[in-house]
Amino acid sequence: MSTSVAEPAYPSGVQLTVFDEKFREDPYPALAETREKAPIHFADDMKSWVFLRHSDVFKILRNPDHWSDPRRANPESFFFKALGGETGEEPSMLLMDNPGHRRLRGLVSQAFKPKAIETWRERARTVARRHVEAIEDDEFDLIRAVANPVPTVVIAELLGVDPGRHEDFKVWSDAVIKTAFTPFGAPDDLARAEVAREKLSAFFLEEIEARRAHPADDLITAMIRAEESGDSLSDDEIVLQCNLLLLAGNLTTSDLIGNAVMALVRNPAQQTLLREDRSLMKNAVEEVLRYDSPVTNSGRIAHTDFEYEGFQIKQGDALGVSLASANRDPAVHPAPDTFDIRRERILLQSFGGGRHFCLGAHLARLEAAETLDALLDRFTGLEMGSGPHEYAANPSFRGLSTFSVRVTR
Ligand code: HEM
Repeated sequence: MSTSVAEPAYPSGVQLTVFDEKFREDPYPALAETREKAPIHFADDMKSWVFLRHSDVFKILRNPDHWSDPRRANPESFFFKALGGETGEEPSMLLMDNPGHRRLRGLVSQAFKPKAIETWRERARTVARRHVEAIEDDEFDLIRAVANPVPTVVIAELLGVDPGRHEDFKVWSDAVIKTAFTPFGAPDDLARAEVAREKLSAFFLEEIEARRAHPADDLITAMIRAEESGDSLSDDEIVLQCNLLLLAGNLTTSDLIGNAVMALVRNPAQQTLLREDRSLMKNAVEEVLRYDSPVTNSGRIAHTDFEYEGFQIKQGDALGVSLASANRDPAVHPAPDTFDIRRERILLQSFGGGRHFCLGAHLARLEAAETLDALLDRFTGLEMGSGPHEYAANPSFRGLSTFSVRVTR
């Protein structure tokens, strides 16, 4: 932490987060300016290093020695405070270090291999089409009608939740998601989230017991069966994993669907291109992930004192990486502010990297592609509606909480 900048002449710290209103609506000009003027710097208010270039983000995330457990971070850092460092509790896999991470990831990852996930495509398609078919109005809130419910129902089906319980499941998971990853939840929301967390945990324990008696073709059964070198997951570990899947998988995929439709609405020529040539869908989803990443930030914790490009970094320092900035780095993606579904060589940072690389990447891509396909099939045009669009104030995430869309049929 030796190099600190008292009053930077470029946006930094909180100004590079959703707490800054201007940034929340459009983060990219501030990210570009900072990437140009101070691609590596220490943000005094967040007590964190910030890395904005693609090459640095790539290296930091893939350094296998750096830590992720917030309890190992400098206690003054946002990383420690926002991610539960002070609770002292064992974190989920996302923030776990080795050897625990290696063990859990080994046991869970089988179920998430692209081949395993591909078998769910048909069900994701059915869920997406059902929600899109249910839209009757010509103007509606895309987030409420499609982007929010589709990922929740897909995860519920993947886990094998009985359709009769989907509504409960959705209410609980929405309540938990609302306060996740932020130290600034409103007291009422925090209380609701606590109750929902307990209900979800009790619910998952019942589901695990039921699946032990009657195995099914779902993720809970896959986690019960997962075995490696004689080791397996305990019931409590499966519950934690189910909770993480809800948190890591729902909000992000909803954001991806919302950001994708926004990009298509704002770039009508690209919308037409995709509508007319669906073989571009896979690349279009990659381009949305690059152009407007649902997860904007990730990070690691320095495992030792080291020097990086002349900066003295200390053990325990938070190493914040801007995935959103890396994706728009012109050194890697020419004309980075242009949304181009035919772009070649997309080197995404949106799913992180190294040993914590997103487990749900294939599932998220598949859900987004199926949902966009359903929308383009049902409507001949998607435009900005007359109602509002608003970005959620959720640190490290970028997604719309409301998005009024007008459609033509
Ligand atoms: C567009 C959607 C998504 C985005 C942008 C996203 C992004 C990320 C990012 C940035 C990380 C941290 C990587 C790192 O620090 O290196 C991560 C980890 C993770 N994601 Fe996702 N994610 C998405 C969807 C999903 C889905 C659908 C699931 C599962 C159902 C999921 C499950 C996970 C898990 C379990 C981890 C922790 C992996 C580990 O620590 O080993 N994600 N994701």
